[in-house]
Amino acid sequence: MSTTNPVSGMPTSSTAQNNAIWVRETRFGRWFLSTQTWYRYVLSQAIIDFKALLGERLPVQARILDAGCGQGLAFGLLEQHFQPAAITGIDIDAEQVKKAVNAANQLATPTSAVHINASGQTFGAESFDLILCHQLLHHTSQQRETLQEFHRLLRPGGILLVGESCRSFINSAPVRLLFRHPEMAQKDAQGYIDLVRTSGFVFSDADIQTSRPWWSRRCLGMAQKLGIGLDNTEPTEILIVATKPH
Ligand SMILES: C[S@@+](CC[C@H](N)C(=O)[O-])C[C@H]1O[C@@H](n2cnc3c(N)ncnc32)[C@H](O)[C@@H]1O
Repeated sequence: MSTTNPVSGMPTSSTAQNNAIWVRETRFGRWFLSTQTWYRYVLSQAIIDFKALLGERLPVQARILDAGCGQGLAFGLLEQHFQPAAITGIDIDAEQVKKAVNAANQLATPTSAVHINASGQTFGAESFDLILCHQLLHHTSQQRETLQEFHRLLRPGGILLVGESCRSFINSAPVRLLFRHPEMAQKDAQGYIDLVRTSGFVFSDADIQTSRPWWSRRCLGMAQKLGIGLDNTEPTEILIVATKPH
């Protein structure tokens, strides 16, 4: 019989069961998430772009959930750009959560980090005003369950920020070589739009941003720099600002 971690709600006795919903990132992948490249060009840029997409809708003194918080690198950015009342980070990787707890302790805003599966029912309904879900969904095969849980956790009118890398990037040879992701979980931009919408959230075309940042291109943006039209135009990244309807 498998046992369950009372904190995380995760099976403790079966790696196979864990693997079914989550594939541990490679050592390189975990290192990459702590680099300036990730922080500056991926995470910080996403927070800035989300803020621009949100405009006047940025909730005042929000209770924020950072789902799949990793090492907690977004905590300081959320404090700086969103001035929340409190931040709660959650992550399925206990090693990352330890680092996130350290990051949480550096902030003036009440901030905590907890080791749980994002699709587990750990917090009460309507506990949050805003959920950041940055680069989590392509790491889990429980995408639908995770979004349904976010819907339960948000108050009516609450906001979900989804930032994702699309299938064309995640399935590219360098990414497959250096990182680990569950098979079959990857979607293109339209796939993520459909997934979020059919999970009960509303948003318009103006709430969606797609892009092909230099770091996601096979040539790392050199073709564009040289004015060569080698690159295709399929988006590799998508941001969605979605609302739970009243
Ligand atoms: C690419 S990292 C992104 C980390 C952070 N959001 C950032 O942007 O720096 C994806 C994170 O999602 C976490 N994760 C994957 N599946 C999860 C799940 N089912 N529940 C909670 N966290 C999960 C991983 O452990 C990892 O820390």
